[in-house]
Amino acid sequence: MHPLEAELRVLAPFLCPELRLWLLPPASKSWHATEPSLLGMPYWAFAWPGGQVLARYVLDHPEVVRGKRVLDFGSGCAIEGVAAAKCGGAVRCADLDPLAGELALRNAVLNEVLLEVTTEDLIGTTPDVDVILAGDVCYSFQLAARLMPWLTAQAARGVRVLLGDPGRVPGALDSAEKVATWDASFDGDPRGLTCWPTHVFSL
Ligand SMILES: C[S@@+](CC[C@H](N)C(=O)[O-])C[C@H]1O[C@@H](n2cnc3c(N)ncnc32)[C@H](O)[C@@H]1O
Repeated sequence: MHPLEAELRVLAPFLCPELRLWLLPPASKSWHATEPSLLGMPYWAFAWPGGQVLARYVLDHPEVVRGKRVLDFGSGCAIEGVAAAKCGGAVRCADLDPLAGELALRNAVLNEVLLEVTTEDLIGTTPDVDVILAGDVCYSFQLAARLMPWLTAQAARGVRVLLGDPGRVPGALDSAEKVATWDASFDGDPRGLTCWPTHVFSL
């Protein structure tokens, strides 16, 4: 068991009060602690702003995913995957971190939906899906440079690609169409005390 797992609590993400997720609460001792960098950043312990806006968008536009095969790429806690499954999508969550997959499955049970999970790195592959949801995955220049050409190629072959992004890597989404904006909590704080304009983009 990862040391942070004992600190997880069931919380309602700031922008998606209709969901419940196992997350690291702001009051926990590890919220601002240095442990994450020692343990490997536990991305799965937070609902990131990009994931929050993507989940909000899907919940408000269920037709985007209903009856579709959906890939939640870089799923972390799977906020956008859970939202898509609640709206009738058949969702596969992909995250390199096996603990993210475990948490996604726990969050699926909590929200009474089914999710599949994989730790395979799908960049460069041709996934058999109709929709790709990518929440807060452009968090480094290196990852954005690898990811964006692949996502653009998926969009070019007809996959609906939606990203949720708070603008961590300047220019990464310049060629994408902005379809929605909400203020989301920048550090993943589900209380929404530190909000930042965060966008849903379509490729
Ligand atoms: C900032 S977190 C976002 C998690 C979630 N989408 C959200 O918005 O709350 C980014 C996630 O991308 C995952 N990731 C990074 N590179 C990946 C890759 N090549 N394939 C799958 N997941 C990847 C990381 O492990 C991490 O969990």
